[in-house]
Amino acid sequence: MICHGQTGENTIYPMVPRLGGQQVQYLAWQLKQFKSHTRADPNAQIYMWPVAQAMTQQEIQLVAKYYAAQSPMHSASSPRPGVSAGKQIFLQGIAAQGVPACMACHAVNATGRGIFPRLAGQRYGYIVQQLTYLHDGNRVNPIMQPVAEKLTNRQMQDVAAYLSGLH
Ligand code: HEC
Repeated sequence: MICHGQTGENTIYPMVPRLGGQQVQYLAWQLKQFKSHTRADPNAQIYMWPVAQAMTQQEIQLVAKYYAAQSPMHSASSPRPGVSAGKQIFLQGIAAQGVPACMACHAVNATGRGIFPRLAGQRYGYIVQQLTYLHDGNRVNPIMQPVAEKLTNRQMQDVAAYLSGLH
């Protein structure tokens, strides 16, 4: 709660994800990856490994259910530049670079489903940071990494501008 907010709203820290309304399966899966050290990006190691280490499998399920049941997060700040370019990437992908449409996995309104995380209303800074981690191989995931590898910094910022503004 200190970092993510009581209902996962996190109005304070740009690099900390909002968790309210996040997919329950995704949340539990990430906590297990922090616990087993398979999600090993720098922020995961510093902030989440010690937390997840101390959690039982049952506590992981309970906290995942709690945050998933909270109202979805959304941003109050005014739109950033790049929203329309980002929307196009999310809905259509970038054919010339072999980037698939993000919505194919994250769902058309970026609500996510199952292991595919909700991205709508997520913090801009967190989205850019995670795409960079995935792009550089600091966060390892066989499904998402090949997508992030093909994005330029500018495209990451555009898609983050679009997603962080969604309700
Ligand atoms: C083929 C399915 C697929 C496609 C297409 C896809 N993603 Fe993902 N994405 C995933 C999965 C699975 C994860 C969870 C990765 C993990 O656990 O490390 C993920 C994770 C993410 C995350 C990290 C979210 C978090 O809460 O930490 C971001 C940001 C993201 N995707 C953005 C995008 C964007 C932007 C696109 C389009 C350019 C895209 N994704 C396309 C499957 C996909």
